[in-house]
Amino acid sequence: MSGILIAGTIIVNFALLFYTIGIVSEQRSHRVTRRALLFLTVGVIFDVVATGFMIVGSSRGPFTAHGVLGFSSLAAMLLETSFAWRHHRRSGDALVPRWLHNYSRLAYTWWVVAYITGAILVMSKRAAGAG
Ligand code: HEM
Repeated sequence: MSGILIAGTIIVNFALLFYTIGIVSEQRSHRVTRRALLFLTVGVIFDVVATGFMIVGSSRGPFTAHGVLGFSSLAAMLLETSFAWRHHRRSGDALVPRWLHNYSRLAYTWWVVAYITGAILVMSKRAAGAG
């Protein structure tokens, strides 16, 4: 794997960490605290940077199964973070509506599926002796 791909795979782990802290906080408390917002927002930044690095480092271009899954999961988390900001701005630490609570879980699950396909990709490249 090229240096830029390795950097992308390292950065995406920070996205996982930050998203996980933000989403677990929301799922447990049913509230979007300032702390949760901070973690989600920094998570999105890491995600965008990691995706950019992967596209630049990719040997296959952006339109692969992993690439399309990656884009859609990034879009889902971007939307989730903007909903979280909107809720926090309008209602502060008030309980989140049920749809937002459920959407958070769905978007995060989808993102983790994309993440797992990335991990499988690397393992299969290693097994094939290409990485
Ligand atoms: C949800 C998080 C992720 C997003 C948004 C994402 C996004 C992308 C995109 C758009 C590409 C370019 C298309 C392609 O080559 O398939 C790509 C490539 C790649 N990604 Fe990810 N990815 C994610 C997670 C991961 C993880 C966790 C790993 C490894 C542990 C990984 C490893 C790779 C590799 C090795 C490539 C290059 C594949 C090649 O050149 O054949 N990705 N990623």
